[in-house]
Amino acid sequence: MQEVTAKIMPRDDRQFIGKVHSEVDKRTGVRLVTCEFDAAGYQPELYAELGIAMPEAIVGSVPKRQAEFLAGRYAAALALQHLAPVRNQDVQVGIGEQRNPLWPSGVVGSISHVGSVAVCAVSRRMDKDYLGIDVEVLIPTRVCREIAAIVATRQERELLSVEGLSERVALTLIFSAKESLFKALYPSVRDYFGFEVAEAVELRLADHTLVLRLVERFANKHNLPRDYQCQFTLGEHWIQSVTCGQFPHRANLKAID
Ligand SMILES: CC(C)(COP(=O)(O)OP(=O)(O)OC[C@H]1O[C@@H](n2cnc3c(N)ncnc32)[C@H](O)[C@@H]1OP(=O)(O)O)[C@@H](O)C(=O)NCCC(=O)NCCS
Repeated sequence: MQEVTAKIMPRDDRQFIGKVHSEVDKRTGVRLVTCEFDAAGYQPELYAELGIAMPEAIVGSVPKRQAEFLAGRYAAALALQHLAPVRNQDVQVGIGEQRNPLWPSGVVGSISHVGSVAVCAVSRRMDKDYLGIDVEVLIPTRVCREIAAIVATRQERELLSVEGLSERVALTLIFSAKESLFKALYPSVRDYFGFEVAEAVELRLADHTLVLRLVERFANKHNLPRDYQCQFTLGEHWIQSVTCGQFPHRANLKAID
């Protein structure tokens, strides 16, 4: 575990980047960087100060979006430094055709932000073929009831409730795990796919693992394995999911690199 001192110093009376935490996740082996940020302390000049280019797509967006994008890319820059400190010094993580981050050659990674926290996970491509991260604040019970049928089948929800998880935790976990799977697989499939494409089939609470299974038709279409292990962390008010691994048929992939 390692605390990193944030590069940016206070501007006016507010500091944009707060506490930064960087570690190699013991369960997955990926580098995880978590960055607290204060959107109220955001100013466009911070992009230059933090060494992050503001892409065209972000220039016209509202300050809140500019702030979360900056925090996510700052977390990514710190994470990349750990992989190859010299080579990745001035690397910018671009924006792909479906908002997917564009990583330097030889790297897989993923970004998520929620509230005042941005997280980034990266790994060398030689170690992982796919990597997705997602952080969600626990979904309020009322919203759970509205979106439950879109996110998961009754069977999936029952699987988690049998293990004693509350309705909110169960649905937020399935939601977050599936979003992490989407981010992990998007670079390989390059197509949007919805929550019905994967099913939660096994929950191993002892090692914080949720197994997601792709429907056969989708897996066959993209020449993908069907099962994926999502490692999750349950916070008091949030859930973080990381889905990563290697494909058994690495050579046949059309992944972006
Ligand atoms: C794209 C999506 C996953 C983003 O999740 P979110 O909870 O809204 O937001 P998060 O903060 O967690 O993640 C946003 C980050 O995801 C990344 N992202 C966005 N689209 C992506 C894609 N197509 N592929 C990979 N990563 C993507 C980006 O880095 C983005 O941050 P940035 O724009 O600042 O770079 C979500 O909006 C979505 O469309 N979900 C439906 C698809 C899905 O989850 N299907 C389930 C399949 S089983």
